[in-house]
Amino acid sequence: MRTYESTRAHNKKPPSPSRLRPPWRIALVANMRDEIDWGPDAPSDAGAEFDKRETIESIAGAMEDDGHWVTFCRADQTLPEALLNLRPHIVFNIAEGLGGDGREAQAPALCELLGVPYTASRVLANAVSLDKTHTKRIWQQSGLPTPRFFEARSAAEVDDTGMTYPLFVKPVREGTGMGIDMGAIVRTRQALTERVAWMVEAYKQPALVEEYLPGREFTVGFIGNPGFPARRRRPWLYDNDGYHYFPVMEIDSGISVSPGVYGHDAKGYDIGAPGAPGYICPTDIPNSLRLRLIELTRKAAEALGACDVSRVDLRLDAKGEPSLMEINTLPGLNPKVSDLCIVAAAEGMPYQDLITEILYLAAERNALPFETLRYADVGPHAMAQPVPRGPIAWGLADE
Ligand SMILES: Nc1ncnc2c1ncn2[C@@H]1O[C@H](COP(=O)(O)OP(=O)(O)OP(=O)(O)O)[C@@H](O)[C@H]1O
Ligand SMILES: [Mg+2]
Repeated sequence: MRTYESTRAHNKKPPSPSRLRPPWRIALVANMRDEIDWGPDAPSDAGAEFDKRETIESIAGAMEDDGHWVTFCRADQTLPEALLNLRPHIVFNIAEGLGGDGREAQAPALCELLGVPYTASRVLANAVSLDKTHTKRIWQQSGLPTPRFFEARSAAEVDDTGMTYPLFVKPVREGTGMGIDMGAIVRTRQALTERVAWMVEAYKQPALVEEYLPGREFTVGFIGNPGFPARRRRPWLYDNDGYHYFPVMEIDSGISVSPGVYGHDAKGYDIGAPGAPGYICPTDIPNSLRLRLIELTRKAAEALGACDVSRVDLRLDAKGEPSLMEINTLPGLNPKVSDLCIVAAAEGMPYQDLITEILYLAAERNALPFETLRYADVGPHAMAQPVPRGPIAWGLADE
């Protein structure tokens, strides 16, 4: 993996035009953790959504081992120049974005502006799914079950009319359990008001207040897109509806540092360490519940127009019915600790296949000519033939 460092290279004349040919030149676009100083007033979990170097290197390695050339590009103000210089055939996007109410849509929006294909969901789905209130409004309108809620931009806006305590308070636009610990469960109006005031001040965004779901917690990950998968790189992976659902994983936070809450601290423990939640995959549930969780996941993702990959978090309500908490259209891809990688590994899918399937799903949507790649399509999870390395060549389009 190369790392893009800003230069004035875009003043150089590109070499003469050449036709698009394998291997692909891929820009891996991400925000690396610990590269940003969030300032003294930032909450202690600021930047937790950003990716560790290890994750970025793992994703790059998976695509390089598949024969591609990968350059890491930071999803900051240098990104436009980086993409203009690299002229990637495709962007592998895991960028959380630096700020703003649609930060997870920044890299996709730039790619669309520049005409560069990219992996995973598009601008609208990434912007909406980052905002849990907007997401819930869409789900409600689609007739999908999600806890009753309201959004408060300040303590003065707290309106618990018609809500049944305990309630659950979370930042409207964060992930990785940021702002979520045992204090997120509030049992009185006063505790609710205090928690909302703290959250708005600490995270500089509205607080989402939901009814608490007391039941078992599940996460369902999938890769795919609607449509018959015959022309995919590994068509055998997908159901006829175009999706591949990984086994349902249960999160047992009852044994974690924050019993009943899969919050930021609980997510920080290594699997199996004291204080970590239990990760049970596949979990032992009746088939009817499994099918219902998968059905809700598909409908939740389709209501938002998610592409290529997502992970949906659900919990059972007091009646034992599954209810939607949130969708991650850019789910974490750390091979060791990310939920999506755990569920893929649980069914025996190698990490490299997970990453390259996301890549090829996006390529299929964007009609990149993957027929020309050299593969041995000999069966499930077939390994790619090595493709010789070489210098980065131009050739995305006629210059
Ligand atoms: N309404 C709710 N009732 C009960 N628990 C909830 C509720 N909402 C969230 N939680 C708990 O808080 C955890 C984190 O919430 P959520 O998944 O919405 O946040 P996140 O930070 O976006 O998570 P991720 O790391 O998956 O991006 C959930 O996994 C669950 O344990
Ligand atoms: Mg979650």
